[in-house]
Amino acid sequence: MANIVQHMRQKQVIEKAYAKINLVLRVTGKRADGYHDLLTVFQSLALHDVLTFSQANPDEIILETNLPGLSTAADNLVWRAAVKLKNFYGVREGVHIKLQKNIPVAAGLGGGSSNAAAALRGLLRFWRLPREWTVLQKIAVQLGSDVPFCLQGGTALGTGRGEKLRTLKPLPFFYVVLANPGFAVSTAAVYQALGADEIEEGANISGMLQAIEAGNRQDIISHLSNTLELPAFRLYPEIKTLKEEMEKTGAVALMSGSGATVFALFTTKQAATAAKAALEKKAQWVHLTKTYAGSGPEVNYV
Ligand code: C5P
Repeated sequence: MANIVQHMRQKQVIEKAYAKINLVLRVTGKRADGYHDLLTVFQSLALHDVLTFSQANPDEIILETNLPGLSTAADNLVWRAAVKLKNFYGVREGVHIKLQKNIPVAAGLGGGSSNAAAALRGLLRFWRLPREWTVLQKIAVQLGSDVPFCLQGGTALGTGRGEKLRTLKPLPFFYVVLANPGFAVSTAAVYQALGADEIEEGANISGMLQAIEAGNRQDIISHLSNTLELPAFRLYPEIKTLKEEMEKTGAVALMSGSGATVFALFTTKQAATAAKAALEKKAQWVHLTKTYAGSGPEVNYV
């Protein structure tokens, strides 16, 4: 009886995939491999997708999602994460993954990267694989530049193409308002539109790092910056308009990642709620969430 109960309990695993914003994103160089070198500060948000893992036939990987039009095959990072992990460990068991999307897609919030990271974490539990964090990190880097951060979450400095991480002191708590104009943005297209003169070789982000270390909310807000805003605004002027609408509420607004989501940080729920209400008619999607400290990294490497 005890065995049956245990077996039934092990049949389902649930894993949350948290969204991220970039508090700072400075592009410091263009590399020979097609990527750009960055200095970025990632921050997890409470907004999350949910992945549910249950049994499938041996060797079968089935992905299902509530979002119409989202691929459930090889161009979905969840599927690729599952295949890579399965192949690495020679797993014969299958898996049925249900992906409940709440984070907008191709929006600068790391939704796809976070789904991939949650798939790795969840499948480690579902397939009862060894807790080898370095293996997960290696697979994560192959899946995308933001996936290693999404594996650990919290607050972290990203260098290289964003995959080399140093955990930072947890950010003081903020309410976060997100606004998205309702279209997908190609990260590659935004990087391609970045002019050579916009690359900041000597950039340093010590102001933001000091503000985080000091836990100084006003200094954190005043150091928000993103090199990718200018190319993204040229490609999609609607993003600039949305940022301006958000700033009309009195907040400092910034585009996250390669866009198109724009965010602002608030110290009171009242101010955040008022800003959200003001943006409701200006954006396709507006959401009030919070910073999320994460469950903590298992390794810390640069
Ligand atoms: O790593 P990821 O697959 O998310 O990157 C998508 C695209 O964004 C890359 O193919 C590249 O064109 C661009 N990119 C970049 N520099 C980075 C990260 C991404 O040029 N640091």
